[in-house]
Amino acid sequence: MTALTEWWTDMGVSVDTALVDALLKAAPEAELAQRAIEPTVNVSTSAPVRKGARTVSDWANEARAKARAAQSMDTLAEAIRAFEGSPLKTTCEQAVVSDGIAGASLMVIGEGPGAEEDRRGLPFVGKAGQLLDKMLAAIGRTRAENAFITNVNYWRPPGNRNPEADELAVCRPFVDRMIELAQPKLVIAAGGVPAVSLLASKDGIMKLRGNEYAYATPDGFKVPIIPILHPAYLLRRPQDKSRAWRDLMLIEKRLAELGG
Ligand code: URA
Repeated sequence: MTALTEWWTDMGVSVDTALVDALLKAAPEAELAQRAIEPTVNVSTSAPVRKGARTVSDWANEARAKARAAQSMDTLAEAIRAFEGSPLKTTCEQAVVSDGIAGASLMVIGEGPGAEEDRRGLPFVGKAGQLLDKMLAAIGRTRAENAFITNVNYWRPPGNRNPEADELAVCRPFVDRMIELAQPKLVIAAGGVPAVSLLASKDGIMKLRGNEYAYATPDGFKVPIIPILHPAYLLRRPQDKSRAWRDLMLIEKRLAELGG
């Protein structure tokens, strides 16, 4: 409890310990509220997104070929920036690919760029990103030293809506290749969209978070994934930071066990 309240205080949240007790007791209600709020991947039932005469699966195949051909993170980033298969590319400023140390034992995969990320071309640099940085610092990680950060979608959706299934599908071969090139010991899926998408799960983030799942890319690289609540959600519901704290403690422990 002391560590928890210190963590909140560090984050600029004034802490009333009686209130903390009450909030922790109210956790089941908060969980129901989260289910109603937290985004899930939108599985489109409409016709596949087309660009010219090509279907989503054509674009995904092209992405897979380009991703497999990339032998370094730089060539992979170039291939992503040159890729024309996401319909989101026409409405955003630029592709947002990654930040931090490729090759770090910890890799964070978020949902996709927002306005600030689109403007600066870097993932997690808005308010949610600042909270993510504090969360990582709580377990001794920074993007400058020992964490690598990316998203499951590289182009900002208009109005910051969730990326659609088709938009995620064309990015996925690049995401998998990035995992293979980065060779992390552990991946954090930050939020419901990356967690549900990577794990192909029917469950929402409240059920998935704080547990470890085995992940393998189609080319056979294996890595554990631990989903956490998205920092943007935690900014809206600071009372759920106790859950994030528990998840971070698990991540720190697992990284130590995995030799990271
Ligand atoms: N949220 C994300 O999931 N990713 C970002 O890069 C920024 C905000």
